[in-house]
Amino acid sequence: MSLGRVHNFSISLDGFGTGEGQSRDAPFGHAGEGLHEWMFTTRFWRQLVGESGGTRGLDDAFARQITPGIGAEIMGAGKFGPPGWHEDPEWKGWWGPNPPFRTPTFILTHHPRPSIEMEGGTTFHFLDASPAKVLETAREAAGGQDVRIGGGPTVIRDFFAAGLIDHMHIVVVPVLLGRGVRLWDGLEGLEKDYEVESASSPSGVTHVTFTRVGL
Ligand SMILES: NC(=O)c1ccc[n+]([C@@H]2O[C@H](COP(=O)([O-])OP(=O)(O)OC[C@H]3O[C@@H](n4cnc5c(N)ncnc54)[C@H](OP(=O)(O)O)[C@@H]3O)[C@@H](O)[C@H]2O)c1
Repeated sequence: MSLGRVHNFSISLDGFGTGEGQSRDAPFGHAGEGLHEWMFTTRFWRQLVGESGGTRGLDDAFARQITPGIGAEIMGAGKFGPPGWHEDPEWKGWWGPNPPFRTPTFILTHHPRPSIEMEGGTTFHFLDASPAKVLETAREAAGGQDVRIGGGPTVIRDFFAAGLIDHMHIVVVPVLLGRGVRLWDGLEGLEKDYEVESASSPSGVTHVTFTRVGL
């Protein structure tokens, strides 16, 4: 069975998955890099960016679950680029010529454009479709493997609301953002459908997993 999975999705203590004021210079708005500092210190991340070192503890063990078994990614227009990216015909995402996805990657947008083949196995496809439809398309492309729902918070919230997420790993970071895009709005009672576990890391973050009951 091909699962819909979320990994390493970081939120502030007050539930924001990104800050306010996203721009080309500030992909997370006023949140800066604060939501992901826990990950930048891990061995997983250092390997990803071609560096040595990094921690090997709990944060690293969770962080590296993002890749195994994934055959496609889905993300929202707000993760793919800053507001207005669709007006730039040259925009190909934040990640340079060799993005880390290395699978078919589906971008939900009301401004679809032709697919873009990148280096390293990533092809960006642009779809204006319902969450259920894009998941069906991504599953076909994933060839039986799981599909990662990569964010941002609006898209994850919509996929949860549509009952399309089987497993989610979120990281609660001890910062208060006060403003931005919230993850949980409208998802009251969601926990009843999931087995929820949490683990506190010495780094100060808390890893929380939601796994669909009966999976
Ligand atoms: N905290 C984390 O771990 C994490 C992870 C990933 C990303 N982020 C951050 O999250 C932010 C982006 O999140 P966000 O909530 O603002 O946006 P988002 O979830 O990435 O994308 C939402 C946008 O996608 C398009 N869209 C969504 N559903 C659609 C549908 N069914 N059909 C067509 N288009 C659809 C719409 O854009 P259009 O109408 O403009 O096309 C919508 O405004 C960025 O700052 C990013 O850096 C955080």
